[in-house]
Amino acid sequence: MASVIRPVAFVIAVLAFLFANPVIDLGLTEYVPPGLRNLPRTLKVLGVFRRATSTAIVDPAEFVVIKDTVHCEDLHYHEASNLLFTACEGTEATRFSRGSLHVIDPETMKAQKLELVGFDGPFVTHGIDVISDPVRSAGEAVYIFAINHLPHPDVHGQTHSQLEIFYHEIRSGSARHIRSVWDPAITTPNDVVALSPTSVLVTNDHYHATGRWREFEDVSGHKWTGTVHLQLARLDGAASAQDGVMASVALAPMHNNNGIGHGRSRDEVLVVECVSGVLNIGHVEEKTGKATIKIDHSLFYDSTIDNPSFFRDPYSNSTFDGSAYLAPGLTRAVDIHASVTHDPATRPPIPVMIWRTKRVPTSSADKPEWKTELLFEDDGTRLDSVAAAVQVAIDPAQEDGRRRAWLFATGFVSRNVVAIKVDI
Ligand SMILES: *[C@@H]1O[C@H](CO)[C@@H](O)[C@H](O)[C@H]1NC(C)=O
Repeated sequence: MASVIRPVAFVIAVLAFLFANPVIDLGLTEYVPPGLRNLPRTLKVLGVFRRATSTAIVDPAEFVVIKDTVHCEDLHYHEASNLLFTACEGTEATRFSRGSLHVIDPETMKAQKLELVGFDGPFVTHGIDVISDPVRSAGEAVYIFAINHLPHPDVHGQTHSQLEIFYHEIRSGSARHIRSVWDPAITTPNDVVALSPTSVLVTNDHYHATGRWREFEDVSGHKWTGTVHLQLARLDGAASAQDGVMASVALAPMHNNNGIGHGRSRDEVLVVECVSGVLNIGHVEEKTGKATIKIDHSLFYDSTIDNPSFFRDPYSNSTFDGSAYLAPGLTRAVDIHASVTHDPATRPPIPVMIWRTKRVPTSSADKPEWKTELLFEDDGTRLDSVAAAVQVAIDPAQEDGRRRAWLFATGFVSRNVVAIKVDI
């Protein structure tokens, strides 16, 4: 979830503008928080002067609301099984208590809640990842990794967040809990990418877990967060969440390191700096049980950016490839604090923007060119907040040869996952 901003932060921002302005040069730039050295960009990303608008959908058949998908914060497309996986909070009443994993079939547009086997504890979901079991045929079974913001056993109002690993036989209707994973390096986890069933990247999105300092951190742009790598010595038979876990820093320092996703190749990862509006494309280097991320390219967007995804166009040919990076964000992150702390029954809707970036073919592999477009916008009436967006290609034979896809999107307080038919 993108975070918050308050008047106090604005005062700081204005002071920073004075101190960091190249025209009013007081020589104090080095004391100014990094995110405030370019205040016009910060204000643009937060949407301070932006109005919400909605993309027109002419044919009502091109907009589908998927039932039984309340407050699903993360969403993944598993290509081998042609299914989407999402982590939801079940009903509006149960958010922050018992979450669930759902599978969505893009052919029928129906969601099925998975029965969780061998898992009774609280489940407060956030980011997830889904990878094929490497020892089975593709599309037979998957590992599901899910951040779980457990209530702290000793301190009321605080969380003791960990990672849960489940195993799911495709179309079985259930997911078996394999183990929980915790290490002191997991502090404010947000999202997860599994490189293999025993090698996992987890982002920590804040240094300050709560309160004013958390808000300051969002706005100031301080790089106080990062991604950790967890190497697991075993999956089955772990004696505790900490059993056989080796943690190391994979990427730091980052600002508000939020979503993380798989890229276009096995070693490519997408790492987001949410309130900075930056999607970093990097590659993983793994050796002796440690993985580090090297950033190769940074894409800058005009809004905050949450969980990124890469769409591989399965129908690409020598002249057309619709493959693209998707980056969902908030139109007015500046309002988010007021929105999420408001009474849920009467709070204003949270408008959204979903961006799509294609890599333009060039002669130089090191210096790619990028083409970014605003794929979908909504004022919050059809899609109330967004945290994740993925595309699923439609067979051109079903579309008179047109190259189209379903864009699935969901948010941390959205009532449903929605699907919009788009050109690719
Ligand atoms: C590739 O696909 C595009 C879009 O469907 C189509 O216009 C084009 O003719 C195709 N090219 C080839 C070489 O098949």
